[in-house]
Amino acid sequence: MNRCRLLVVASLALAAAAAAAQGTSPLDPGAHEVLRPAGHVAGAIGQLWNVFVLTCTTVFVAVFATFLWALWRAPRADVRDPPDLSSLGRHERGPYRSVVAGVVVSAVLLLGLLGASVWTDRAIARMSLANAVNLTVIGHQWWWEIRYEGEPASDTFTTANELHVPVGRPVVVTLKAGDVIHSLWMPNLAGKKDLIPGRTTLLQFRADRPGRYRGQCAEFCGLQHAYMGLEIVADPPERYAAWTALQRAEAPAPADAQQRRGQQVFLGSTCMMCHAIQGTPAQATTAPDLTHVGGRSTLASGVLNNDRASLKRWIADPQKVKPGTQMPASTLPESDLDALVAYLESLK
Ligand code: CUA
Repeated sequence: MNRCRLLVVASLALAAAAAAAQGTSPLDPGAHEVLRPAGHVAGAIGQLWNVFVLTCTTVFVAVFATFLWALWRAPRADVRDPPDLSSLGRHERGPYRSVVAGVVVSAVLLLGLLGASVWTDRAIARMSLANAVNLTVIGHQWWWEIRYEGEPASDTFTTANELHVPVGRPVVVTLKAGDVIHSLWMPNLAGKKDLIPGRTTLLQFRADRPGRYRGQCAEFCGLQHAYMGLEIVADPPERYAAWTALQRAEAPAPADAQQRRGQQVFLGSTCMMCHAIQGTPAQATTAPDLTHVGGRSTLASGVLNNDRASLKRWIADPQKVKPGTQMPASTLPESDLDALVAYLESLK
């Protein structure tokens, strides 16, 4: 008894510690809840979910109650009693009616659920796409490339792991994959949709509530699949416009000697073979575009908070942070690494 109590206390303490650790975690991943829709598409799916849960719970309770009632009412017999086979030759109207009623009710309920599904599908498809934001999300092992199509094309810009959308405007996302199959899942805003190499798929949604939401890769895509997170920022239109204007601009020039040194380090090392910084000769597209990396809230697809210490840790030994990542470890001397971090941090 005492051991049992100890076990309960220990598990409660563990749960409390876990909850506390979660509460003080530096990474606030934003909302990731299917049941709290923040937009049109997720709202329609949420309503469908409610209809299904209500219907299925009612049926489950009714079936179970009937079952218990039948058990309760079953004739009691003794093992020594001979079986009563007389009912086999009798036409029993009661059970016959029950079976017919059961079939009819089941068919009606199933048809109702089918109707609700079709209605949901139509509600999603009928969302107006006027004045839509067009962007492309490309899944990579293990990060998200996000390209905002500009009008004119020179206004197009690319960012990574952070999807900004304006509240109230539809968003049309073209989904592509750079290597293997990924799946984009933003439960507060839309259902899952796969990103398939060699194929283009579309996902439409609209955020109706400003906020920060978490997206996640929902298709196993290798070692770091679980750490392929995405941050979605739904902003009021003015804030969104300010953000896009900032993203379109080239990277700010280094402001002091250390940042200048950092830029030299970046352009003189292997960094520029994979990354781009607009406004500099670095134009590679294999890895995330770093033009405004300093303005993002996380690093490495939501694994690290974007601060100086984490950035340094990430560049110095990426495998330690995200085993399997394609980012090679740096061989830079400490002072160069510090300069590089200072420069990248300044790219707001
Ligand atoms: Cu990408 Cu799982």
